[in-house]
Amino acid sequence: MGSGFLYQSLEEWLRQGIKQKRWGAGEKLPSIRTLCAEKQLSKATVMHALQRLEAQGLVEARPKAGYFVKYQPEAMTAPSITTEIKAPRTVNSSDLLLDIMQRSAAFDLCPNPTGEQQSQGVIDLNRCIGRALREPRGGRHQYYGDPAGSETLRAQLSQHYARRGLVQSPDEFCITSGCQHALFLALMACCKAGDTVAVESPGFYGAMQLLEQLKLKVVEIPSSPATGMDMESLEKVLQRWPVKACIVSPAFSTPSGSLMPSGAKEQLIQLANKYDLAVIEDDIYADTALSAIPDPLKAIDTENRVILCSSFSKSLSRDLRLGWISGGRWHTEISRLKLVTQLSSSCAIQEGVARFMSEGRFLSHLRRQRNLLQKNRDQLIAELQNWNCDVKFSVPEGGLAIWVEFPEEVDTLNYYHALLAQEIVITPGTLFSISKKYKNCLRLSFCHSWNEQRKNALDMLPVVLV
Ligand SMILES: Cc1ncc(COP(=O)(O)O)c(C=O)c1O
Repeated sequence: MGSGFLYQSLEEWLRQGIKQKRWGAGEKLPSIRTLCAEKQLSKATVMHALQRLEAQGLVEARPKAGYFVKYQPEAMTAPSITTEIKAPRTVNSSDLLLDIMQRSAAFDLCPNPTGEQQSQGVIDLNRCIGRALREPRGGRHQYYGDPAGSETLRAQLSQHYARRGLVQSPDEFCITSGCQHALFLALMACCKAGDTVAVESPGFYGAMQLLEQLKLKVVEIPSSPATGMDMESLEKVLQRWPVKACIVSPAFSTPSGSLMPSGAKEQLIQLANKYDLAVIEDDIYADTALSAIPDPLKAIDTENRVILCSSFSKSLSRDLRLGWISGGRWHTEISRLKLVTQLSSSCAIQEGVARFMSEGRFLSHLRRQRNLLQKNRDQLIAELQNWNCDVKFSVPEGGLAIWVEFPEEVDTLNYYHALLAQEIVITPGTLFSISKKYKNCLRLSFCHSWNEQRKNALDMLPVVLV
């Protein structure tokens, strides 16, 4: 190694190695112990060099695993951003989503619930719920719980958000049956039939279905796979049409996994204040962030107009059907609507989940979950890089999916049934828009590990589609 400080020489050597692809994106660097031994350096020197590379965004530290070469988003060909803005209109969704949901396939190319192993987190969760169910509860099964939900669970949620810079008392949360229910309550509270709601494009199909059901009009706002909803386009829309609410996922939207920068979040709050907008924040993907967990938008809400919606579906279990909402200025109405739509939630399940959280098991589960997702995502990227065709894709730092764009002439929907015949269920891009956009795109999930069957299905996609 050359002159200068020892850490500088090592830093430069590692940088060159990354540049020359001795270690490719997603690959592990030699361990600290190996670097100390091979380069005859102290642990402090090696750590210093690695930490400097981490600060420059070239590598990332993964707990108990070591240092890995980071994906450089600009090195990938990112999917395109639509710039076109169409006037607000009603939603007419297809039966395709129902078909995918009936096959439990929204996040799996080859769904097989019996083939999956239970994670340690789910085993612990089941124990906590089992204990709650076995506890002598007198005649409690004959009574409904508080419609707002268990106070102990709401207290746990309050503590959970405090770690992300959001101060909310337990009374400011209301427990729901998942995030979809929370979004439904939010829309019911702040809009009436015929009102217009702004959504991300591409955006979450579940939200579009709600907007259709509530007879609301939709205006799609162009969103970048890297930075999410475009604030300039939103402002143009707000100047032109009366928009009542905006649904947005600042922390890893689906399908692209975009992450809104702090500046854009501040702009969104300013626009909401200026144009009297309700902002429905779908925060469901924040807890499984692969790098730093971003603060919620609600943490910078100055006029109490952000309605925070989330659930345990993506971080812990979809089967719990447990979510929450913090409704800001609409909270009283939202709590009333919770009563109207569900009466109350299961007390025993809520107590079990509250215990799971208070014993620190949720945080341990999230740590393991993030490591697993990171591995699954990297494997998916490696597979996509091997595809022998012209595809562009996002490299998300969170969420559970990668947004893949095929050449213009491909219509992924046309191959849905042909792939079904081979037991492969795709999630075509058109599901993520109300205007039949994104026909050449697919959402590919990385929430399941890549077994032989899923890898084969993945290999099959470019062969069939392109
Ligand atoms: C962005 C987003 N919001 C909400 C939901 C619905 O979540 P839940 O299962 O908690 O109802 C989903 C599920 O796919 C989602 O992707």
